[in-house]
Amino acid sequence: MHMKHASLVVILTMIIPLLALGQSKIGTGSIMELYTQNCASCHGQNMEGGLGSSLIDDIWKYGGSDEEIAKVVRDGVPEMGMVPWKDVLADDQIRALVILMREQKLLAETSGILEKVKPLGGIFSTDRHNFRLEKVAEVDDVLWSISFLPDDSILITQRNGKLWNIRGGKKHEIKGIPEVWVKGQGGLLEVAPHPDYEKNGWVYLSFSENVGAKVDGKDAAMTAVVRGRIKNDKWVDEEEIFRVPPEFHVNPGGHYGSRFVFKDGYVFFSIGERQISKMAQDLTKPNGKVHRLFDDGRVPKDNPFYNKKGAYKSIWSYGNRNPQGLDLHPVTGDIWETEHGPRGGDELNVIRKGRNYGWPVITYGMNYNGKPLTDKTHMKGMEQPVYYWLPSIATAGIDFYEGDAFPEWTGNLLATGMSAEELQRLVIEDGKVVHVETILKKQGRVRDVSTGPDGMIYVSLNTKGPNNGVLYRLVPVGEPRWTSLFNGRNLDGWETRDGASTVLVDDGAMVAFHQDTKAFSYLATKKTYGDFILELDVKVVGDLNSGILLRGNSSPSIRDGNLHGYQMEIDQSERQWTGGIYEEAGRGWLYSLEGKDDARKAYRASDWNHYRVEAIGEHFRIWVNGVPALNMADTKTAEGVIGIQIHKLSQGGGGGSVSIRNVRIISENAGDQIQGISIPEVATSL
Ligand code: HEC
Repeated sequence: MHMKHASLVVILTMIIPLLALGQSKIGTGSIMELYTQNCASCHGQNMEGGLGSSLIDDIWKYGGSDEEIAKVVRDGVPEMGMVPWKDVLADDQIRALVILMREQKLLAETSGILEKVKPLGGIFSTDRHNFRLEKVAEVDDVLWSISFLPDDSILITQRNGKLWNIRGGKKHEIKGIPEVWVKGQGGLLEVAPHPDYEKNGWVYLSFSENVGAKVDGKDAAMTAVVRGRIKNDKWVDEEEIFRVPPEFHVNPGGHYGSRFVFKDGYVFFSIGERQISKMAQDLTKPNGKVHRLFDDGRVPKDNPFYNKKGAYKSIWSYGNRNPQGLDLHPVTGDIWETEHGPRGGDELNVIRKGRNYGWPVITYGMNYNGKPLTDKTHMKGMEQPVYYWLPSIATAGIDFYEGDAFPEWTGNLLATGMSAEELQRLVIEDGKVVHVETILKKQGRVRDVSTGPDGMIYVSLNTKGPNNGVLYRLVPVGEPRWTSLFNGRNLDGWETRDGASTVLVDDGAMVAFHQDTKAFSYLATKKTYGDFILELDVKVVGDLNSGILLRGNSSPSIRDGNLHGYQMEIDQSERQWTGGIYEEAGRGWLYSLEGKDDARKAYRASDWNHYRVEAIGEHFRIWVNGVPALNMADTKTAEGVIGIQIHKLSQGGGGGSVSIRNVRIISENAGDQIQGISIPEVATSL
């Protein structure tokens, strides 16, 4: 107590002179510096808390909305030692601090996601489907766009100016495409066939072009769209769809957009603001917009700004920063867009006629270097995003999943993230995002996603640095093949071993009682198992401990030939290490639950508990009532029986029973059916 007061006084005396400066604002640097200099002394270097409360535990004494947090920072809580900042920090700085607090909290959680999506034996496991990644093709630069032709061949763009058709497992270059301007983020961008391709053969391309324009003596460029046909791997019949006069070309190297969607005879396409943010709000400029044209390039007269003086007539929506994902909702037909935003401000929008999406006037983000942008997130006449990503994932291509290969994902939006190296699955209900799952992470930057005619999900990944792009597809792995290990009527397939015990079948469960004060006994399978996934319910009643022997063996030299091996603990005592592994007649505890409070609390003493055990090669994973308890690697024993331990009676005569029901196993290709687990694997040493 004494110490705390002392340091509070020291800090307040440091701060009071600042407050006395009145209106002058402090700090022009990055928000992290601002935090370190002004807040870390009380709230901790990593926001973990100290004299001030933790800012990443999601407990907010003064309310948890962005506005409420900003208000506490502005007004302070002087009587509690929280200084007011409104005289020294500007609103945009306070807003950026709120973004930083949110970001830091979520970043602290990503290690769990990383563990959960880590492939095991080449299998990626997610909540609803497991899959493998299969390589389809590789190119020598960024692979920007993926689309499919009705003959099941694939078109991909290589950003530095190559268009490829992939068929029969080989890449064929399409010669004669327009010359593209390869610089910065520019180059050959989107490719997509017309929805009536089978009748008309049109393929659309977007790219950045330089037509000799210069701004301030520097080469300037803009996004263009053409269509053409492909005959014998040659680009022919080219027609211009959208081209911007040279006076509108600008010189920054990024934010070209661009994606297509086709709807009702129109083509919609996006152009980023080309890194001149204010142009996104300027209707006389083509950049920072979604455009609508007839599929042959004519401008529809009912476009929202067609009759507005000076406006660019093809504009459909504006205030769009860098839209790099567009797709039609499979049910409503609405145009969904992902907009690569500033830090903390990647957006998911529904694009509607004539609407203003707000960039750069409103945004949920701040500058990538951590400099504040604005405190404005809402404004009349400007659209709110359906969803925004914090931390940013650097959104690019999107696709509503409509294939057959992953039925549980039907209608979900697949969204790519480049910097986060993620593919996410967004469940959307009534126009709102209700659930987000990361299904791929740290396999390379993900730039585009598209469902193939085979129902597989195709993604473009940067796996080996900037000059490389690989087309992969997600291939589902088989359906679970559960076999029941207990028929509910008798003990077929089971035997009791070692010490004396009695086992009855009662009310659909096997119920085991002990009769021995010297040795444990086991109710064990007659068969042995190597790789398997086991699920069962067990209830232990009374003052005893039990466990599930995994890959149990016996040999005359160990404990008189009694079963031994890995035992998943069922622990009725206060310590509750249920779900840990103890090696019976061997090394003792291999993996305890010390410090693993979530798992410890998952166990319900003297009640039914559900266990899932995965034993795949050296990898062991255990869940207690759905809560991850163990993730361990151990190479000692590859195969053995499964046994339920019936512990010896304690000397004092205390005893009880162990009941087992709903026992099922997958023992064929079990590695296909593993689940993602959010705790890190720990290797035991032999
Ligand atoms: C002199 C110490 C001190 C400094 C410096 C300080 N804080 Fe605080 N802050 C506190 C204390 C103490 C509380 C807890 C007040 C309470 O419990 O009522 C607090 C509370 C808060 C809260 C409210 C938390 C909640 O649970 O609702 C926020 C947000 C916050 N501070 C942000 C900041 C930011 C941002 C900065 C830097 C610009 C900062 N603080 C600087 C001491 C400080």
